[in-house]
Amino acid sequence: MVEFTSLQEMLLAAHEKLAPATWDFIIGGTEAESTLRRNRHGLDRLAFRPRVLRDVSRIDTSTTFLGHELSLPVMMAPVGSLALVDPDGAVAVAGACRTVGSMLIYSTFADPPLDVVRQKVDHPLVLGLYVRGDEAWVDQAVDEAVAAGCVAIAVVTEAPYYSRRERDLLNRFRSRGSKSGTYAATQKILREGGSPDATAAAEARMVTARLTWDTVERIRKRSNLPIILKGIATAEDARMAVEHGVSAVYVSNHGGRQLDSARGCIEALPEIVAAVGGHAEVILDGGIYRGTDVLKAIALGARAVCIGRLQCWALAAGGEAGLVRAMEILEEEIIIAMGLIGASNLAGLDRSYLVATDPIESAHVLNPFPVVKERLARLTAPGKSEH
Ligand SMILES: Cc1cc2nc3c(=O)[nH]c(=O)nc-3n(C[C@H](O)[C@H](O)[C@H](O)COP(=O)(O)O)c2cc1C
Repeated sequence: MVEFTSLQEMLLAAHEKLAPATWDFIIGGTEAESTLRRNRHGLDRLAFRPRVLRDVSRIDTSTTFLGHELSLPVMMAPVGSLALVDPDGAVAVAGACRTVGSMLIYSTFADPPLDVVRQKVDHPLVLGLYVRGDEAWVDQAVDEAVAAGCVAIAVVTEAPYYSRRERDLLNRFRSRGSKSGTYAATQKILREGGSPDATAAAEARMVTARLTWDTVERIRKRSNLPIILKGIATAEDARMAVEHGVSAVYVSNHGGRQLDSARGCIEALPEIVAAVGGHAEVILDGGIYRGTDVLKAIALGARAVCIGRLQCWALAAGGEAGLVRAMEILEEEIIIAMGLIGASNLAGLDRSYLVATDPIESAHVLNPFPVVKERLARLTAPGKSEH
Protein backbone atom coordinates (compact mmCIF):
# COMPACT_ATOMS: atom_id res chain seq x y z
CA MET A 1 0.00 0.00 0.00
CA VAL A 2 1.12 3.56 -0.67
CA GLU A 3 2.33 5.19 2.53
CA PHE A 4 -0.18 8.02 2.51
CA THR A 5 1.39 11.24 3.73
CA SER A 6 -1.81 13.17 4.27
CA LEU A 7 -5.55 12.81 4.48
CA GLN A 8 -5.80 14.67 1.17
CA GLU A 9 -3.73 12.00 -0.53
CA MET A 10 -6.07 9.36 0.92
CA LEU A 11 -9.14 11.15 -0.36
CA LEU A 12 -7.67 11.39 -3.84
CA ALA A 13 -6.94 7.65 -3.76
CA ALA A 14 -10.49 6.94 -2.55
CA HIS A 15 -11.92 9.04 -5.36
CA GLU A 16 -9.93 7.09 -7.88
CA LYS A 17 -10.93 3.69 -6.49
CA LEU A 18 -14.62 4.19 -5.88
CA ALA A 19 -17.26 3.95 -8.59
CA PRO A 20 -18.72 7.43 -9.16
CA ALA A 21 -22.13 6.44 -7.75
CA THR A 22 -20.49 5.04 -4.60
CA TRP A 23 -18.42 8.19 -4.16
CA ASP A 24 -21.65 10.21 -4.46
CA PHE A 25 -23.47 7.92 -2.01
CA ILE A 26 -20.77 8.53 0.58
CA ILE A 27 -20.22 12.25 0.12
CA GLY A 28 -23.82 13.26 -0.50
CA GLY A 29 -26.55 14.60 1.72
CA THR A 30 -30.27 15.23 1.50
CA GLU A 31 -31.97 17.50 -1.04
CA ALA A 32 -30.17 20.88 -1.04
CA GLU A 33 -27.43 19.40 1.20
CA SER A 34 -27.70 22.41 3.48
CA THR A 35 -27.38 20.35 6.68
CA LEU A 36 -24.29 18.68 5.24
CA ARG A 37 -22.78 22.06 4.50
CA ARG A 38 -23.78 23.53 7.84
CA ASN A 39 -21.86 20.78 9.59
CA ARG A 40 -18.77 22.19 7.93
CA HIS A 41 -19.88 25.80 8.23
CA GLY A 42 -20.19 25.44 12.00
CA LEU A 43 -16.66 24.09 12.26
CA ASP A 44 -15.16 26.47 9.71
CA ARG A 45 -16.51 29.52 11.51
CA LEU A 46 -14.65 28.62 14.70
CA ALA A 47 -11.05 29.77 15.01
CA PHE A 48 -8.56 28.99 17.75
CA ARG A 49 -7.23 31.43 20.33
CA PRO A 50 -3.81 29.85 20.81
CA ARG A 51 -1.95 30.21 24.11
CA VAL A 52 1.84 30.26 24.09
CA LEU A 53 4.81 29.84 26.42
CA ARG A 54 3.46 26.74 28.05
CA ASP A 55 5.45 23.55 28.23
CA VAL A 56 3.83 21.39 25.57
CA SER A 57 6.62 18.84 25.30
CA ARG A 58 4.30 16.06 26.50
CA ILE A 59 0.90 15.75 24.87
CA ASP A 60 -1.75 13.31 26.06
CA THR A 61 -4.46 12.66 23.46
CA SER A 62 -6.13 9.82 25.35
CA THR A 63 -9.55 9.75 26.92
CA THR A 64 -12.24 7.27 27.87
CA PHE A 65 -15.74 6.69 26.58
CA LEU A 66 -18.14 4.87 28.91
CA GLY A 67 -15.08 3.64 30.77
CA HIS A 68 -13.30 2.30 27.68
CA GLU A 69 -9.88 3.67 26.87
CA LEU A 70 -9.41 5.54 23.62
CA SER A 71 -5.98 6.60 22.39
CA LEU A 72 -7.62 9.51 20.59
CA PRO A 73 -11.05 11.05 21.20
CA VAL A 74 -12.15 9.61 17.85
CA MET A 75 -14.45 6.64 17.26
CA MET A 76 -16.08 5.10 14.20
CA ALA A 77 -19.63 6.24 13.45
CA PRO A 78 -22.07 3.52 12.40
CA VAL A 79 -21.91 3.13 8.62
CA GLY A 80 -24.11 0.78 6.65
CA SER A 81 -23.19 -0.70 3.28
CA LEU A 82 -19.51 -0.83 4.30
CA ALA A 83 -18.91 -3.71 1.93
CA LEU A 84 -19.39 -1.27 -0.97
CA VAL A 85 -16.18 0.36 0.18
CA ASP A 86 -14.13 -2.64 1.28
CA PRO A 87 -14.91 -6.37 0.99
CA ASP A 88 -13.99 -6.92 4.65
CA GLY A 89 -16.45 -4.22 5.71
CA ALA A 90 -16.91 -3.93 9.45
CA VAL A 91 -14.22 -6.54 10.16
CA ALA A 92 -11.66 -4.16 8.63
CA VAL A 93 -12.99 -1.25 10.69
CA ALA A 94 -13.05 -3.27 13.91
CA GLY A 95 -9.51 -4.50 13.21
CA ALA A 96 -8.29 -0.94 12.70
CA CYS A 97 -9.98 0.09 15.95
CA ARG A 98 -8.17 -2.65 17.83
CA THR A 99 -4.83 -1.60 16.32
CA VAL A 100 -5.19 2.08 17.15
CA GLY A 101 -7.24 1.85 20.36
CA SER A 102 -10.53 3.20 19.04
CA MET A 103 -14.07 1.86 19.06
CA LEU A 104 -16.53 0.89 16.33
CA ILE A 105 -20.22 1.58 16.50
CA TYR A 106 -21.46 -1.25 14.29
CA SER A 107 -24.45 -0.35 12.10
CA THR A 108 -27.42 -2.68 11.76
CA PHE A 109 -26.82 -2.25 8.01
CA ALA A 110 -23.12 -3.12 8.06
CA ASP A 111 -21.52 -6.31 6.72
CA PRO A 112 -20.68 -8.98 7.80
CA PRO A 113 -23.09 -9.81 10.65
CA LEU A 114 -22.27 -8.61 14.16
CA ASP A 115 -21.36 -12.04 15.57
CA VAL A 116 -18.89 -12.62 12.73
CA VAL A 117 -17.19 -9.28 13.42
CA ARG A 118 -17.01 -10.11 17.11
CA GLN A 119 -15.53 -13.57 16.41
CA LYS A 120 -12.87 -12.18 14.10
CA VAL A 121 -11.88 -9.18 16.17
CA ASP A 122 -11.69 -9.34 19.93
CA HIS A 123 -12.24 -5.68 20.78
CA PRO A 124 -15.10 -3.74 22.40
CA LEU A 125 -17.98 -2.97 20.03
CA VAL A 126 -21.09 -0.86 20.29
CA LEU A 127 -24.23 -1.80 18.34
CA GLY A 128 -25.60 1.15 16.34
CA LEU A 129 -29.20 0.02 16.36
CA TYR A 130 -31.42 1.17 13.52
CA VAL A 131 -34.83 -0.03 14.69
CA ARG A 132 -36.30 -1.83 11.71
CA GLY A 133 -39.06 -3.98 13.15
CA ASP A 134 -41.65 -4.48 15.86
CA GLU A 135 -41.02 -5.22 19.52
CA ALA A 136 -40.05 -8.82 18.82
CA TRP A 137 -37.52 -7.61 16.24
CA VAL A 138 -36.08 -5.11 18.73
CA ASP A 139 -35.83 -7.76 21.44
CA GLN A 140 -33.99 -10.09 19.10
CA ALA A 141 -31.56 -7.38 17.98
CA VAL A 142 -30.87 -6.49 21.61
CA ASP A 143 -30.32 -10.14 22.56
CA GLU A 144 -27.90 -10.55 19.66
CA ALA A 145 -25.96 -7.48 20.78
CA VAL A 146 -25.72 -8.85 24.32
CA ALA A 147 -24.69 -12.30 23.03
CA ALA A 148 -22.02 -10.71 20.82
CA GLY A 149 -20.58 -8.96 23.87
CA CYS A 150 -21.41 -5.39 22.80
CA VAL A 151 -20.46 -2.90 25.49
CA ALA A 152 -23.32 -0.49 24.73
CA ILE A 153 -26.21 0.10 22.34
CA ALA A 154 -26.48 3.30 20.35
CA VAL A 155 -30.11 3.78 19.35
CA VAL A 156 -30.32 5.69 16.08
CA THR A 157 -33.07 8.29 16.50
CA GLU A 158 -32.55 10.59 13.53
CA ALA A 159 -33.94 8.26 10.88
CA PRO A 160 -37.67 7.55 11.32
CA TYR A 161 -37.98 8.26 7.59
CA TYR A 162 -35.36 7.63 4.91
CA SER A 163 -34.67 10.96 3.28
CA ARG A 164 -34.36 11.98 -0.36
CA ARG A 165 -30.70 11.87 -1.24
CA GLU A 166 -30.78 13.27 -4.69
CA ARG A 167 -27.33 12.20 -5.79
CA ASP A 168 -28.47 8.62 -5.24
CA LEU A 169 -31.79 9.27 -6.97
CA LEU A 170 -30.02 10.78 -9.98
CA ASN A 171 -27.60 7.83 -10.09
CA ARG A 172 -30.42 5.29 -9.64
CA PHE A 173 -28.34 4.06 -6.70
CA ARG A 174 -30.02 1.96 -4.01
CA SER A 175 -28.42 1.46 -0.60
CA ARG A 176 -29.49 -1.22 1.86
CA GLY A 177 -31.45 1.29 3.91
CA SER A 178 -33.46 2.74 1.05
CA LYS A 179 -36.94 1.46 0.25
CA SER A 180 -39.02 1.41 -2.89
CA GLY A 181 -42.35 3.25 -3.10
CA THR A 182 -43.18 6.72 -1.88
CA TYR A 183 -44.12 7.72 1.63
CA ALA A 184 -46.98 9.68 0.11
CA ALA A 185 -48.52 6.45 -1.19
CA THR A 186 -47.96 4.77 2.18
CA GLN A 187 -49.65 7.63 4.02
CA LYS A 188 -52.59 7.54 1.62
CA ILE A 189 -53.16 3.85 2.31
CA LEU A 190 -52.94 4.42 6.06
CA ARG A 191 -55.42 7.31 5.76
CA GLU A 192 -57.89 5.87 3.29
CA GLY A 193 -57.34 2.13 3.61
CA GLY A 194 -56.34 -0.37 0.93
CA SER A 195 -56.27 -4.10 0.34
CA PRO A 196 -55.20 -6.15 3.37
CA ASP A 197 -51.80 -6.76 1.75
CA ALA A 198 -51.25 -3.09 0.91
CA THR A 199 -52.30 -2.03 4.42
CA ALA A 200 -49.98 -4.59 6.01
CA ALA A 201 -47.10 -3.38 3.80
CA ALA A 202 -47.83 0.26 4.70
CA GLU A 203 -47.89 -0.58 8.42
CA ALA A 204 -44.63 -2.51 8.05
CA ARG A 205 -43.02 0.41 6.28
CA MET A 206 -43.92 2.75 9.14
CA VAL A 207 -42.37 0.52 11.78
CA THR A 208 -39.24 2.71 11.94
CA ALA A 209 -41.41 5.78 12.48
CA ARG A 210 -42.91 4.23 15.62
CA LEU A 211 -39.69 4.48 17.62
CA THR A 212 -40.37 6.43 20.84
CA TRP A 213 -38.93 6.92 24.31
CA ASP A 214 -40.82 3.77 25.32
CA THR A 215 -38.72 1.75 22.87
CA VAL A 216 -35.57 3.26 24.34
CA GLU A 217 -36.76 2.24 27.79
CA ARG A 218 -37.48 -1.28 26.53
CA ILE A 219 -34.00 -1.60 25.00
CA ARG A 220 -32.36 -0.32 28.18
CA LYS A 221 -34.23 -2.71 30.44
CA ARG A 222 -33.80 -5.74 28.21
CA SER A 223 -30.11 -5.28 27.50
CA ASN A 224 -28.94 -3.88 30.82
CA LEU A 225 -26.24 -2.19 28.75
CA PRO A 226 -25.35 1.51 28.67
CA ILE A 227 -27.59 3.28 26.15
CA ILE A 228 -26.35 5.93 23.76
CA LEU A 229 -28.93 8.04 21.91
CA LYS A 230 -27.65 8.95 18.46
CA GLY A 231 -29.28 11.88 16.71
CA ILE A 232 -29.94 14.27 19.59
CA ALA A 233 -30.05 17.81 18.23
CA THR A 234 -31.73 19.93 20.92
CA ALA A 235 -31.38 20.73 24.61
CA GLU A 236 -34.97 19.53 25.15
CA ASP A 237 -34.25 16.02 23.91
CA ALA A 238 -30.90 15.96 25.69
CA ARG A 239 -32.71 16.65 28.96
CA MET A 240 -35.22 13.89 28.21
CA ALA A 241 -32.37 11.53 27.42
CA VAL A 242 -30.88 12.17 30.84
CA GLU A 243 -34.29 11.64 32.46
CA HIS A 244 -34.48 8.28 30.71
CA GLY A 245 -31.15 7.26 32.18
CA VAL A 246 -29.08 7.15 29.00
CA SER A 247 -25.33 6.97 29.45
CA ALA A 248 -24.36 9.02 26.42
CA VAL A 249 -25.95 11.64 24.22
CA TYR A 250 -24.66 11.47 20.65
CA VAL A 251 -25.18 14.75 18.79
CA SER A 252 -25.70 13.91 15.13
CA ASN A 253 -27.73 14.82 12.07
CA HIS A 254 -26.57 11.70 10.24
CA GLY A 255 -23.94 13.71 8.43
CA GLY A 256 -26.61 15.79 6.68
CA ARG A 257 -28.16 12.64 5.23
CA GLN A 258 -31.52 12.85 6.99
CA LEU A 259 -33.28 16.16 7.73
CA ASP A 260 -32.19 18.89 5.34
CA SER A 261 -32.12 22.49 6.51
CA ALA A 262 -31.00 21.52 10.01
CA ARG A 263 -28.34 23.09 12.20
CA GLY A 264 -24.72 22.07 12.02
CA CYS A 265 -23.92 19.62 14.83
CA ILE A 266 -21.17 21.74 16.35
CA GLU A 267 -23.67 24.61 16.65
CA ALA A 268 -26.06 22.41 18.60
CA LEU A 269 -23.34 21.07 20.88
CA PRO A 270 -23.11 23.88 23.51
CA GLU A 271 -26.82 23.85 24.39
CA ILE A 272 -26.77 20.06 24.60
CA VAL A 273 -23.69 19.95 26.81
CA ALA A 274 -25.35 22.52 29.10
CA ALA A 275 -28.64 20.57 29.20
CA VAL A 276 -26.90 17.29 29.98
CA GLY A 277 -25.06 18.99 32.81
CA GLY A 278 -22.52 16.20 33.25
CA HIS A 279 -25.19 13.52 33.83
CA ALA A 280 -24.18 11.66 30.66
CA GLU A 281 -21.24 11.69 28.28
CA VAL A 282 -21.69 13.74 25.12
CA ILE A 283 -20.24 12.73 21.76
CA LEU A 284 -20.71 14.27 18.33
CA ASP A 285 -20.30 13.60 14.64
CA GLY A 286 -20.85 15.59 11.46
CA GLY A 287 -18.09 17.04 9.31
CA ILE A 288 -15.22 15.92 11.51
CA TYR A 289 -12.40 15.41 9.03
CA ARG A 290 -9.34 17.02 10.66
CA GLY A 291 -7.49 17.02 13.95
CA THR A 292 -8.51 20.63 14.48
CA ASP A 293 -12.19 19.67 14.03
CA VAL A 294 -11.79 17.06 16.77
CA LEU A 295 -10.29 19.64 19.14
CA LYS A 296 -13.06 22.16 18.48
CA ALA A 297 -15.68 19.61 19.52
CA ILE A 298 -13.72 18.68 22.64
CA ALA A 299 -13.28 22.36 23.56
CA LEU A 300 -17.08 22.77 23.36
CA GLY A 301 -17.66 19.90 25.75
CA ALA A 302 -17.75 16.69 23.69
CA ARG A 303 -16.02 13.72 25.25
CA ALA A 304 -15.15 12.28 21.85
CA VAL A 305 -16.23 12.48 18.22
CA CYS A 306 -17.13 9.92 15.57
CA ILE A 307 -16.12 9.86 11.94
CA GLY A 308 -18.38 8.66 9.14
CA ARG A 309 -17.20 9.79 5.72
CA LEU A 310 -13.55 9.93 6.73
CA GLN A 311 -13.82 6.29 7.82
CA CYS A 312 -15.24 5.39 4.37
CA TRP A 313 -12.62 7.33 2.45
CA ALA A 314 -9.74 5.81 4.42
CA LEU A 315 -11.17 2.32 3.99
CA ALA A 316 -11.64 2.86 0.26
CA ALA A 317 -8.09 4.16 -0.08
CA GLY A 318 -6.35 1.35 1.74
CA GLY A 319 -8.66 -1.07 3.54
CA GLU A 320 -7.95 -1.78 7.19
CA ALA A 321 -4.35 -0.50 6.87
CA GLY A 322 -5.70 2.66 5.25
CA LEU A 323 -7.98 3.32 8.20
CA VAL A 324 -5.12 2.71 10.62
CA ARG A 325 -3.07 5.22 8.60
CA ALA A 326 -5.87 7.79 8.67
CA MET A 327 -6.02 7.51 12.44
CA GLU A 328 -2.22 7.90 12.66
CA ILE A 329 -2.43 11.06 10.56
CA LEU A 330 -5.30 12.36 12.70
CA GLU A 331 -3.22 11.68 15.80
CA GLU A 332 -0.33 13.63 14.30
CA GLU A 333 -2.65 16.52 13.42
CA ILE A 334 -4.16 16.49 16.93
CA ILE A 335 -0.79 16.44 18.69
CA ILE A 336 0.55 19.30 16.57
CA ALA A 337 -2.60 21.40 16.99
CA MET A 338 -2.65 20.80 20.77
CA GLY A 339 0.99 21.84 20.96
CA LEU A 340 0.28 24.97 18.95
CA ILE A 341 -2.71 26.05 21.02
CA GLY A 342 -0.92 25.33 24.30
CA ALA A 343 -2.95 22.38 25.56
CA SER A 344 -1.15 19.30 26.91
CA ASN A 345 -4.25 17.23 27.49
CA LEU A 346 -7.87 17.12 26.40
CA ALA A 347 -9.28 17.90 29.84
CA GLY A 348 -7.59 21.28 29.70
CA LEU A 349 -9.50 22.33 26.58
CA ASP A 350 -12.47 24.63 26.96
CA ARG A 351 -14.36 27.34 25.11
CA SER A 352 -11.70 29.93 25.88
CA TYR A 353 -9.62 28.34 23.11
CA LEU A 354 -12.23 29.21 20.47
CA VAL A 355 -13.68 32.30 18.92
CA ALA A 356 -16.41 32.65 16.31
CA THR A 357 -15.21 34.22 13.09
CA ASP A 358 -16.16 34.40 9.43
CA PRO A 359 -15.41 31.22 7.49
CA ILE A 360 -12.94 31.89 4.70
CA GLU A 361 -14.82 29.83 2.13
CA SER A 362 -18.50 29.31 1.55
CA ALA A 363 -19.55 26.09 3.19
CA HIS A 364 -18.52 22.92 1.36
CA VAL A 365 -18.03 19.37 2.54
CA LEU A 366 -14.51 19.34 1.06
CA ASN A 367 -13.35 22.62 2.61
CA PRO A 368 -10.84 20.84 4.85
CA PHE A 369 -9.19 19.41 1.74
CA PRO A 370 -8.37 22.28 -0.65
CA VAL A 371 -6.18 20.24 -2.96
CA VAL A 372 -8.88 17.56 -3.34
CA LYS A 373 -11.46 20.25 -3.99
CA GLU A 374 -9.27 21.87 -6.66
CA ARG A 375 -8.48 18.60 -8.42
CA LEU A 376 -12.06 17.37 -8.44
CA ALA A 377 -13.21 20.74 -9.78
CA ARG A 378 -10.64 20.45 -12.59
CA LEU A 379 -11.87 16.94 -13.42
CA THR A 380 -15.40 18.19 -13.91
CA ALA A 381 -14.55 21.56 -15.51
CA PRO A 382 -16.08 22.17 -18.95
CA GLY A 383 -13.63 21.71 -21.80
CA LYS A 384 -11.54 19.31 -19.74
CA SER A 385 -11.47 16.78 -22.58
CA GLU A 386 -9.89 19.34 -24.97
CA HIS A 387 -6.64 19.41 -22.96
C1 LIG B 1 -22.00 5.96 3.67
C2 LIG B 1 -22.65 6.25 4.98
C3 LIG B 1 -23.49 5.30 5.56
C4 LIG B 1 -24.08 5.55 6.80
N1 LIG B 1 -24.84 4.58 7.39
C5 LIG B 1 -25.34 4.79 8.63
C6 LIG B 1 -26.02 3.74 9.32
O1 LIG B 1 -26.18 2.63 8.81
N2 LIG B 1 -26.50 4.00 10.58
C7 LIG B 1 -26.33 5.23 11.18
O2 LIG B 1 -26.78 5.43 12.31
N3 LIG B 1 -25.67 6.23 10.55
C8 LIG B 1 -25.17 6.03 9.31
N4 LIG B 1 -24.47 7.03 8.70
C9 LIG B 1 -24.27 8.31 9.40
C10 LIG B 1 -23.01 8.25 10.27
O3 LIG B 1 -23.18 7.39 11.37
C11 LIG B 1 -22.65 9.64 10.83
O4 LIG B 1 -23.75 10.15 11.55
C12 LIG B 1 -22.22 10.63 9.75
O5 LIG B 1 -21.54 9.99 8.72
C13 LIG B 1 -21.35 11.70 10.38
O6 LIG B 1 -20.99 12.68 9.47
P1 LIG B 1 -19.61 12.66 8.64
O7 LIG B 1 -19.79 11.64 7.57
O8 LIG B 1 -19.53 14.04 8.10
O9 LIG B 1 -18.49 12.27 9.57
C14 LIG B 1 -23.86 6.79 7.46
C15 LIG B 1 -23.02 7.74 6.87
C16 LIG B 1 -22.41 7.48 5.65
C17 LIG B 1 -21.48 8.52 5.07
